[in-house]
Amino acid sequence: MNNMGFGLEVDLYCGTALSAAQRAAPGSRFCVRGREQSGTETTMTRREFVARLIKSGLLVLAGSSFRSQAQAPTEIPTPDERVINVDDPAYRALRSVGGAVYFRTDIEDKPLIVWRQDQNTYRVFSSKCPHRGRQLRLPQNGLITCPFHNSAFDTNGRPVDGPALKPLREYPARLKGNKLVIRVVAFEE
Ligand code: FES
Repeated sequence: MNNMGFGLEVDLYCGTALSAAQRAAPGSRFCVRGREQSGTETTMTRREFVARLIKSGLLVLAGSSFRSQAQAPTEIPTPDERVINVDDPAYRALRSVGGAVYFRTDIEDKPLIVWRQDQNTYRVFSSKCPHRGRQLRLPQNGLITCPFHNSAFDTNGRPVDGPALKPLREYPARLKGNKLVIRVVAFEE
């Protein structure tokens, strides 16, 4: 048995340095929360001590690794991306196929129409009518319609009725986890 004869007086169980009083008191070289509750001075071989240090070091490393994964920063959109969290209650309509919401951004003076067309397909259109620029309705029965002169647009944003002749502007979107990432692209006026 080696009674820690290499000058380290560290509380192995509590992880704190011992006070002078603790060092001087018989049987209190180590934290009393361990097996030293009996009051008997604990002895430990150098091998045991090193093994304990390595083990606690590995635990610290494992803990920091876990924390770094758990606290990994969320992905930051690039300047040409806008992101919707589809779990946000404000966008609950997107949880159902056929659901649609308005999504206001800084890229148009009117909100975008975000439309879930099937399980994995989200389409994002401008809600600005290409006829006179009025705001379009959310899609119903597979059509986006304009309340002013009754233009109608199909699931691809193509005009199928009314005075509008141009298709709707569409912004590419892809789902990443619970985030719908919309890429902002420039359109010619
Ligand atoms: S503004 Fe939409 S059809 Fe005229």
